[in-house]
Amino acid sequence: MSKVATFLCVLLLSHQTLCDGNETSENSIPEEKMYDDYRLPTSITPENYKLEIITQLNDTQGFGFSGVVWITMNVNAFADNITLHMKNLTIESDKVQLFELPQVTANDSMIEKSSRDYEKSLNEERKIRKIQYVPKHDYMIIYPAKILSKFRKYVVKIPFEGDLDTSLIGYYRSSYFDKKAQKKIWLAVTQFEPTHAREAFPCFDEPEMKATFDISLVHHKMYNSLSNMPLKESKEMEKIEDFVVDTFETTVPMSTYLVAYCVSDFEYKEATVKMKDDVKFRIYARRDAMDQVDYAAEVGPKVLKFYEDYFKIKFPLPKIDMIAIPDFGAGAMENWGLITYRETALLYRANASTLSAKHRVAEVIAHELAHQWFGNLVTMKWWTDLWLNEGFATYVASLGVAYLHPEWKSLDEESVDNTLHIFKFDALKASHPVSVTIGHPNQISQIFDAISYSKGSCIIRMMHKFLGEESFQIGVSNYLKKHEYANAKQDDLWAALTEVAHSQQSLPNELSVKEIMDTWTLQVGYPIIKVHRNYDENSAEITQTRYLSDRFKTRSDVEFCWWIPLTYVDSETREFNVSHAQDWMKCGKENIPEMKRIENLPDKDQWVIFNAQLSGLYKIQYDRWNYKLIVKTLNSENFKNIHQINRAQLIDDAMDLAWVGEQDYGIALAMINYLRQEDEYIPWKSALDNLRSVNRLLIRSELYGVFKAYVQHVLEPIYEKVGGISEPSKSERLDAVKHQSMICGWSCRFGVGDCVEKSVELFARWMKETEPDHVNPVPLNLRSVVYCSAIRMGKEAEWLFLWTRYINSNVGAEKSLIISSLSCSREQWLLGRYLDWSLNSTLVRKQDAASVFGGVAREEIGFHLAKNFFFEKIDAIHQTLSPDTSRISRFIKPLAEQMSTEKDIHELKELVTVKHKVFEKSTLGVKQALETVELNNQWKLNTYMDFSRRLNRMMARNFDYSLEDDEQEEAKAI
Ligand SMILES: *[C@@H]1O[C@H](CO)[C@@H](O)[C@H](O)[C@H]1NC(C)=O
Ligand SMILES: *[C@@H]1O[C@H](CO)[C@@H](O)[C@H](O)[C@H]1NC(C)=O
Ligand SMILES: *[C@@H]1O[C@H](CO)[C@@H](O)[C@H](O)[C@H]1NC(C)=O
Ligand SMILES: [Zn+2]
Repeated sequence: MSKVATFLCVLLLSHQTLCDGNETSENSIPEEKMYDDYRLPTSITPENYKLEIITQLNDTQGFGFSGVVWITMNVNAFADNITLHMKNLTIESDKVQLFELPQVTANDSMIEKSSRDYEKSLNEERKIRKIQYVPKHDYMIIYPAKILSKFRKYVVKIPFEGDLDTSLIGYYRSSYFDKKAQKKIWLAVTQFEPTHAREAFPCFDEPEMKATFDISLVHHKMYNSLSNMPLKESKEMEKIEDFVVDTFETTVPMSTYLVAYCVSDFEYKEATVKMKDDVKFRIYARRDAMDQVDYAAEVGPKVLKFYEDYFKIKFPLPKIDMIAIPDFGAGAMENWGLITYRETALLYRANASTLSAKHRVAEVIAHELAHQWFGNLVTMKWWTDLWLNEGFATYVASLGVAYLHPEWKSLDEESVDNTLHIFKFDALKASHPVSVTIGHPNQISQIFDAISYSKGSCIIRMMHKFLGEESFQIGVSNYLKKHEYANAKQDDLWAALTEVAHSQQSLPNELSVKEIMDTWTLQVGYPIIKVHRNYDENSAEITQTRYLSDRFKTRSDVEFCWWIPLTYVDSETREFNVSHAQDWMKCGKENIPEMKRIENLPDKDQWVIFNAQLSGLYKIQYDRWNYKLIVKTLNSENFKNIHQINRAQLIDDAMDLAWVGEQDYGIALAMINYLRQEDEYIPWKSALDNLRSVNRLLIRSELYGVFKAYVQHVLEPIYEKVGGISEPSKSERLDAVKHQSMICGWSCRFGVGDCVEKSVELFARWMKETEPDHVNPVPLNLRSVVYCSAIRMGKEAEWLFLWTRYINSNVGAEKSLIISSLSCSREQWLLGRYLDWSLNSTLVRKQDAASVFGGVAREEIGFHLAKNFFFEKIDAIHQTLSPDTSRISRFIKPLAEQMSTEKDIHELKELVTVKHKVFEKSTLGVKQALETVELNNQWKLNTYMDFSRRLNRMMARNFDYSLEDDEQEEAKAI
C-alpha cells in the first residue's frame, strides 16, 4: 500500500477546482450557481454503507489509511446530483463509480474477490458527468450523466485515501510507551462527533441521515481491531503480506457521528458481572494499564442495567467495548457499542486515583452509557438540539452514579455544582440559549459547552421535580420508544411528557410542558425573582427579570419571561422537601411577565425562603426584613433549620447581587460570617467560589491584606474541624472528602493553621523515599493540596522531583493531578519553561496543553507569564491545537477571569482583531472572555469601594460583625 496519492484533490480544494483530471471551464462552478446551503439536500438518503479501510500504522513505512466505501442510497425526489460530505481525503475522481441497483439489495461481504462479486451484482453502471468540491461546506457533488430515477436505489463507490495524523479528530493516531517492549507503540482510532466522519470516509454526515454500516478493517496482524459491532470473521489478506481483514456484523441504523473503529494492540478484560441477555462487556486498555480496568468493568454493566430498567428499553447491541485512548481530545465519546475514553475518564487504580478521580470515572461512564439511549437510539434531528443529548446524559448520569454509589451522597453535590456554575456562566450577555440555531459547522463544536451540558441538565432536573418521578420516567420512556432508531426534536419530548403529565394529573390540563419549557430552552439566561413581603397582610408580591452580571443593562436586556415553578418554605414548617410546584409564576399573553401575589404567608417574625433545594433554575432577591430574619437564623445555633442547599443558594445570590451593585455587600458579608459555624461542603463551596472571584480582583490591590485576614478568620475553625492536613477524612461521602481537600487548599493558600508547614513536611518525606514511584506518604485525597503547597514553597529540586513522578507514572489520574500541581511554582523560569513544554507533545500530550496553561494562568505569579506567552505564542498555540482550534477558548478563559483594566480590554480586543483567523472557531468563547474582563473592570470601578468600606469596618471590629452594626455605621458614613 502506498501513501503517495496519484491525484491530490486536497491540494486543489482550496481553489475550488475539480478533481476529475479536467480543469476546463465547463467544470468550474460559476459563483452564482454555487450550492450554498450548509444542509444536505434531502432528495437522496443513505441506507447502507459498506466500508473497507486499510490502516497503515508503521514507524518505518508510514501512517495512513485508504479505503473504499459503497453507499446504497434511496432517491426520494427529483435529483440530478448526489451531494455528500468529504474533507481532507484524497479521491481519484475517475475511480468513482455509480451503479443502479436491481430491485433486490445485494448483501455480500466485499473484501478482495467478494467486492468484485458485489459490484457484478449491482446491475448497470451509470456514467458520471462530473464531480465538484465545495470546500466551504465540505461537499463533494457527483453529477450523473442522467437524472436519477425516483424511488430507485443507487450505489456509489468511492475509493479514498487519508492521513493518519495526530489531530485527535477524524481517524487519527495515538501512541504510548510500552514497558515490556521498551518502545513507543501506535494505535489508530476515530473521533467523529460532531462533523469528522467526513474526514475518514465520504458520507452523508448529518445526524438525521441514519443508515446501517458494514465495516471491514484491514491491518497488520500484530494489531487487533474493534468497531461498533462484534467481529463476524477475521481472515488473512491475500494481497498484502502479514495483513488480516476483520469483518464486523451489520450495525443497527445509526448516525455517522457514532461510527467508530480502532486498530490497536490493546488487551481487554471482560466484565465479571454478567448481564442478562448476554451483552458482552469488555474494557480495553494498553497492556501496562490493565491493572486499572476493574472498576470500569464492575460499574459499566451495573449502570447499563440501571438504564435498561429506568428507560424500560433493552440495550439493543450484543456487546459494549469501552476503551482507554492515550491521546483523546474530549473526555469520552459514546460511539454505539465502542465507547472511547480519555484514560483519566475510564481507568482507576486504588492508592493512585483520588476519590474525586473515581467519581469522575463513574460519572463519565454513566454519561456515555446514558447516551446509548439518549443520542444513539434516539438522536437529535439537528445540532440545534444537542442539549437534548448532553443535558439528558448529564442529568441521568447523576442518577446513575447515585445508584452505583449511594454511600457517596453525590446527587445533591452534583446538582448544586451544575446550578451554581450556570448561575455565573449564563449571566453573561454573550451566553446563548440551550437550543441554538446552528449555521456554519464552525459553530457546532462551540456549543459543546456548559450551556448544553450543565444548563441542559439543570432544566431537566427542574422538570423532573415539577412533573414528579412517575410522569417523568414514563414520559421519557414513551418518547424513546416512539422515536427509536430515528430522530427527534425537543418538541417531541415535550409532547410525550405532556401526554403522561395530563393523564397522571401532574400538570394542570390547560398547561403543557412545551409552554413551560420553551421559555427555558429557546431563551438565553435565567430569571431572578424579587420577593416583597407585605407583613401586614401576610402576603408577598413577586416579579421576575433576567439576571445579568452586567450592571449597565437596558430593559430589553432583562425583560424576559419564564414559567417558574415556585416553591417556598417558612421557618415554622421548614418543609424543604417539597419539589412539585406549589404555584406557577406565569407568562401572560405575548410573553409578558406577570406580577404574582402569594397569600397566607407567616407572620413578621418568620422568614420565607423560595426555591426549596434549588429545584428551579432561578435566583431570589428578598426584601431587607426577610433578609434580616434569614441572616439571624444563619448566625444562630439553629442555622441548620435552613436546608444546606438553600444555605448555598442564599450565599451565592447575596454575593452575586452585591457584585452587580443591586444590593450592598452588607448582607452578603453577614451571611459569609456564619460560615465559622458551618461544616457542610455545599455552602462552603458556594462561598469559596464567590470569594475566589473577589480574590482574583483584589490580589494586586491595597485591600489584599485586610481581605486575607478576613478569609483567614473565616477559615480557621473549619480547617481544624475537617482535620487539617494531618488527618485524612475517613468518610465514604464524596462531599466530605472534597470538603477537606477544598478547605485545606484555601487554608494553605491563605496560611491558615499548620497547612503549609505540614504539606512541606509530607512532601519532603516523600522526596526521601528510595522508591518514590511506589511509596508515597502523602494522603491520597490531599495530594493536590500538598503537592501544590510544596511546589509553591519549593524550588527547582521539588519541581523536578514531581516532574519525574509525572514522567514515570502509569496512571492517567495521577499524571493529571501532577500536571496541575506543577503550575503552583513561584519560580518564573520554571513556569516559563513549563509553558514551553506544554506545546511540545513529546513532553506534554496535546490533550493536556490547555490544563498546563490554565493552571499557570490561574496562579498569582504565573498569570503574567501566561498572558505574555499567550500573546506572543498565539500562532504556535493555534498550530498545536489545530485543527480543533475551538479549544483556544480554554486558553482565553483563565486569562480573562483575572484581567480587569481598560488596557487589558484593549489588548485583548486588538489581539482578537489582528489574529482573527486564529479565533475563527472560538468566536463565542472570545465574546464571553471580553465580557468577563469588562465585568471585572466594572467591579473595580463601581463595587470595590463598597466592599472595601465594609471590609475595613469589619476589620476594625475584629470581624465581629452584624447586619445591624453594618447598617448603623453605613448610615453614619453617608
Ligand atoms: C477532458 O475534457 C476533454 C474535453 O472536454 C475530453 O475530451 C477529455 O476526455 C476529458 N478528460 C478527462 C480525463 O475527463
Ligand atoms: C513495519 O514495517 C517493517 C519493515 O517493512 C516490518 O518489518 C514490520 O513488520 C512492520 N510492522 C507493522 C506493525 O506493520
Ligand atoms: C443537487 O440536487 C438537489 C435536489 O436533489 C438540489 O436542491 C441542489 O441544488 C443540487 N445541487 C447542485 C449543486 O446542483
Ligand atoms: Zn455526552
